[in-house]
Amino acid sequence: KSSIDPSLPPLKPHYTPNPDPNAPESPSTASLIQALNLTKHIEGGYFSEIDRNPLIIPNPFLSAPTTAPGRTAAAPRSNDDTVRNASTSIYYLLTRNSPQGAFHRNKGRTVHTLIRGRGRYVVIHADEPGGQGGKKRVETFVVGREVGKGEKVVWVVEGGKGKGTWVLPEGGDGGEGNGGEGELLVSETVIPGFEYSDHDFLTMEEFRELVTEEQAEELGWLVRK
Ligand code: GUN
Repeated sequence: KSSIDPSLPPLKPHYTPNPDPNAPESPSTASLIQALNLTKHIEGGYFSEIDRNPLIIPNPFLSAPTTAPGRTAAAPRSNDDTVRNASTSIYYLLTRNSPQGAFHRNKGRTVHTLIRGRGRYVVIHADEPGGQGGKKRVETFVVGREVGKGEKVVWVVEGGKGKGTWVLPEGGDGGEGNGGEGELLVSETVIPGFEYSDHDFLTMEEFRELVTEEQAEELGWLVRK
């Protein structure tokens, strides 16, 4: 039984990450990576930024919001922590070789849309008060096309949550041959727009504080090494 959801078997990786970072992807995955111009993501998998909203807004995460009289919307942003782009969007792809997105956290909320494949998400509600011993609520769901079985095609992860993900095989009739088996391709829109300074990984130490011992045992493999 899963310590996250007793109606499930223990949560395990379905595909094993290839320890060789230069291992070639399958031809169909390689052409998808090329077609979408994806590069390696630090969380695992591949990504490409497809939109950075030119609208510049005050950084809502600053403890003392800065008013910036005379600021122009054309101001360069990446070196200015007082502002953010209103949103950014990426493609995000997990593959046979790189089938896991390690537990991380963004200050902004993320709207996800499934493009192809199937996967599991685990959300650690790190921003909530927590219960016994300060342990946080942990949630898991499947993203996929079988909406009648509760799979999600659109899902939102609020800012401040720990999030990890991995590829699942296509259920039922979705065998090899139609492309995409052993892949998960989604789009993610982050609001306000992504900045590295709003992003961090859960360390193993922090992960163990957030979740129960059983949960840490079950899902430690999804913590970044
Ligand atoms: N650069 C590195 N990671 C990301 C990400 O998750 N989103 C965006 N927009 N840019 C990134």
